[in-house]
Amino acid sequence: MAIAFESLYSDIAGRNGKLTVGKKTIKTPALLPVINPHLQLVSPKEMRQMGVEAIITNAYIFSQSKQFRDRALSEGLHKVLDFDGVIMTDSGSFQLSVYGQVSITNTETLAFQRDIKSDIWVPLDIPTSPASDRETTERELGTTMERLREAKAVFGPDAPLAGPVQGGIFTDLRERAGHDVSALGFSFCPIGAVVPLMENYRYRDLVSVVMAAKRTLSPSACIHLFGAGHPSMFALATAMGCDLFDSAAYALYAKDGRYMTTHGSYRIGELIDLPCSCAVCRSHTAEELRDAKDRERLLALHNLHVTLAEIARIRQAIFDGTLWELVDERCRAHPQLLAGYRALLAHAPELALHDRVSKRRFFYRGDESCKRTEVVRYQQHLPQVSLGKTVLIAFEGGERDEFETTLFFKPPFGPYPKELKETFPIGPCEIPEWDDTMVRCGCEGIRILMERHPESRFTVSCPERWNSIVREILGDIEVRNDTV
Ligand code: GUN
Ligand code: ZN
Repeated sequence: MAIAFESLYSDIAGRNGKLTVGKKTIKTPALLPVINPHLQLVSPKEMRQMGVEAIITNAYIFSQSKQFRDRALSEGLHKVLDFDGVIMTDSGSFQLSVYGQVSITNTETLAFQRDIKSDIWVPLDIPTSPASDRETTERELGTTMERLREAKAVFGPDAPLAGPVQGGIFTDLRERAGHDVSALGFSFCPIGAVVPLMENYRYRDLVSVVMAAKRTLSPSACIHLFGAGHPSMFALATAMGCDLFDSAAYALYAKDGRYMTTHGSYRIGELIDLPCSCAVCRSHTAEELRDAKDRERLLALHNLHVTLAEIARIRQAIFDGTLWELVDERCRAHPQLLAGYRALLAHAPELALHDRVSKRRFFYRGDESCKRTEVVRYQQHLPQVSLGKTVLIAFEGGERDEFETTLFFKPPFGPYPKELKETFPIGPCEIPEWDDTMVRCGCEGIRILMERHPESRFTVSCPERWNSIVREILGDIEVRNDTV
């Protein structure tokens, strides 16, 4: 197989993995900076020194370029761009979505990508606008799938082909596309036509289409989020299982005088100081950067640094099992990101099936934390706890002899036997003073346990403050206020 992906560590649906393309291997999640051969603010060689292992460029631009076409064909892309890492090429699909047509066919662009020695080739898929109606979206998806089939038929099963997933904003079409792309044997699958969603801050829709595609794509496929730009959304996308991002944003923002941070961007004139540790920011004041002759290039370097640092932070978070905390933090940067985060939390039951069993810690960060996969997963496994005929759930204090079983209580998870006291998630869970939301959530755990054990009689012992919530969730259960 020309393209292979291996997941090494995972958290939520995110993975730290290894993508192998021919003889080259890169670490994921990864950022593939977009290179425009005519306009290089930062050279691929400099990017390599910054730790970039893969880049993406546009084969259509090369094929139409007087300056580069023949050189690319005779010397190969790696020589022309002076980059020895992985080079992915996009077809003319982006131009197709902007100009409505391109002067190249599917097999022509793929043969060209092969001939310039690209490492990963993209067929001429159709990026359907999210504004398109169902009929148009379905027809265009049909054309995309026909071209993917043609790509496999003409170039063979081992060609390093990407299989883009389209389907507009229709989740059932995204599901169908994900299934069909995997069935055709694609192991590298970009999720396409999401740029307009991200440009318009439609993160809720982004979550719904990415989750739909992921539901049916092979779990072993490497997932590329096509055109994902701003580092503030990488953690959210990674949590859904996206492994690769390609970004022209570092350069586009720089041209526009914009300075990226993980929580949003500033116009360079707005900054009184540079809140970053990269070489550019440590060697310039905000004023010097604003007035620099090579401002665009300096901003591009900074933007690239911030973007790459965020990828590194995500990799560490996956390793530690703290990706939800990072998603929570990043998604507070914009109300629409928060909406996307909440939409992702609504998928927690589905995500919990794949989430890992043990993590470094669980920091409670507010109501949203009650909906996390660890809580869902804990409560899914609660019915396995074995119980005697009389069960005490003690919010505070120790065991009572009069009950066959005593369980303790840790919100937002719920009841736990003392053997689980030190294990994840009960032990390493840091929660502030209990509040109604987390106690209500923990009581749901008690309710699940009671439903599965109708033969046991349950009593709750809690401070009086929680009586009303206990009764609200658990009905006429026996409640004692004898904890002190
Ligand atoms: N770049 C951004 N979105 C897309 C897409 O949907 N398809 C292709 N081929 N390239 C893209
Ligand atoms: Zn910087």
